[in-house]
Amino acid sequence: MSGINREARQIFAEIVSNKKVGAYHHIVFSVGELANSAKPGNFVAISVGGQNSAMVLRRAFAIYRTFDRGASGGLLEIVVAPHGAGSIWLTNQLPGFKVDLVAPLGTAFGIPTEPVRALLVGGGYGSAPLFGLSEVLKSRGCRIDMVLGASTAMKIYAPLDGKRSVNSLTTVTEDGTTGITGKVTDVIPGIIETNQIDIIYSCGPMGMLEAINVIAQERGVVHQCAIEEAMACGIGVCMTCVLPIRGEDGVIRMLRSCIDGPVVDGGSVIWNSKRTIPEGTWGRN
Ligand SMILES: Cc1cc2nc3c(=O)[nH]c(=O)nc-3n(C[C@H](O)[C@H](O)[C@H](O)COP(=O)(O)OP(=O)(O)OC[C@H]3O[C@@H](n4cnc5c(N)ncnc54)[C@H](O)[C@@H]3O)c2cc1C
Ligand code: FES
Repeated sequence: MSGINREARQIFAEIVSNKKVGAYHHIVFSVGELANSAKPGNFVAISVGGQNSAMVLRRAFAIYRTFDRGASGGLLEIVVAPHGAGSIWLTNQLPGFKVDLVAPLGTAFGIPTEPVRALLVGGGYGSAPLFGLSEVLKSRGCRIDMVLGASTAMKIYAPLDGKRSVNSLTTVTEDGTTGITGKVTDVIPGIIETNQIDIIYSCGPMGMLEAINVIAQERGVVHQCAIEEAMACGIGVCMTCVLPIRGEDGVIRMLRSCIDGPVVDGGSVIWNSKRTIPEGTWGRN
């Protein structure tokens, strides 16, 4: 039975740095031992707005990286797009401020036991969890190709140190301000064929994940994706984040993407449900 990530803890984490990078903010928190339990794909749920705020729901952010600094404690990094009131509040907080944070939450990317040829695809800030993943895959001897896409160059998040852990990096923008003009799905089939890709890991908007899944299914490539379904509680209580997913027994169930995800097998998601409960789903009638 699914449940909240057993390693999850609620802590007050001090902001160590908060820097603007392109369209995003790269924020580093001091999190002590919690850094050791986070895996690529996990996320944090952060309380926003301060003590008297009406914004009672936590906001979810993918964990970009964690560092263990030994005696001086661990660090946890996220990449935030200032979007609505909660994320704008967070990006305005200065070093020294303590944030109420729950982490690590959710499922992590599955790591193959043998060296494989992996393609990592990120859309916008969806690239954030992929750099930590690429470091783990590289340490297992995998070949890693990465494709990052966004509407425009400012929205591609690709730090220099992150690029070191990949064999090739292709950037794609819709307006052509950097890299190839178009969408990530324009270049994925060619990379799968040329580099004989075994597995695709993806993170980004739902439409992009669905389109990647079609390509993966057509070519028989395994596809693990990190879903960013709207979340309210982040810990499995409210059912805001449910998504129809077909289990190994063939039965479709509405699963909570905050605890059964965010990382799921792309081939098991019923992508075209348009936030309805599909016919045949367990418990629908
Ligand atoms: C797993 C996951 C990982 C993510 N990773 C990142 C990341 O790395 N970087 C990043 O910038 N963003 C990330 N996001 C998106 C981020 O959570 C949202 O952009 C953020 O919640 C926006 O908050 P806001 O207050 O700025 O925006 P608003 O749009 O004002 O508020 C959005 C929030 O309102 C609540 N809400 C909205 N609709 C409903 C509803 N129908 N019912 C109940 N509650 C609702 C939710 O708590 C939601 O988080 C991620 C989201 C998920 C689920
Ligand atoms: S966000 Fe509340 S159950 Fe998933």
